[in-house]
Amino acid sequence: MTIRIAKKDDIPAIVQIHKQCVGLVNALVYPPYVINEWTTQITHNAVAEQFLNSKWIVIEEKCHIVGFAQYSLDSCELYQIQVLPSYEGLGYGKKLYLFFENDCRYRGCKLLRLNATLNAIGFYKKMGFREGGHVSFPLATTSCEMVRMIKRLS
Ligand SMILES: CC(C)(COP(=O)(O)OP(=O)(O)OC[C@H]1O[C@@H](n2cnc3c(N)ncnc32)[C@H](O)[C@@H]1OP(=O)(O)O)[C@@H](O)C(=O)NCCC(=O)NCCS
Repeated sequence: MTIRIAKKDDIPAIVQIHKQCVGLVNALVYPPYVINEWTTQITHNAVAEQFLNSKWIVIEEKCHIVGFAQYSLDSCELYQIQVLPSYEGLGYGKKLYLFFENDCRYRGCKLLRLNATLNAIGFYKKMGFREGGHVSFPLATTSCEMVRMIKRLS
């Protein structure tokens, strides 16, 4: 298992993993009209654009990308962790999270933030976050309910 900084060549794998997560995991807690709109917004161009202003890492197993994370060191904010549904529950999400947290510690962050999808609240609580209120993540014509979460670093 290795974690490394993502490259532009990884974008097709990132898009594929994200679409699978939304279609198979997020779909368990969000209605179909939200899932459909959300999925159409996950494109090569959208990810490529976000490569410019956030940090992306991938986790590989035997040279095969099984998950990724996106975050900002400027705002100490985790934007997303996505693990292939067939690799869920095997510790990959935690490893990606710890990479993010260690990077933030090195950078001097004191307060970590994220918006959690409803299915991932329990995972982030395990990582030491607490809930800080509901937020709506805007999609094209609808929105996706999420929970604001924070963690203070000592
Ligand atoms: C949420 C997600 C990243 C977790 O990754 P994972 O690789 O399955 O999690 P891990 O195996 O590393 O689990 C680490 C710990 O969290 C726990 N955990 C994992 N998912 C959990 C959940 N949904 N609820 C409660 N606990 C959870 C595990 O039991 C494990 O506990 P332990 O350390 O006591 O054994 C993954 O399920 C995923 O990609 N989901 C779909 C995408 C998504 O919604 N991402 C969040 C976007 S904000």
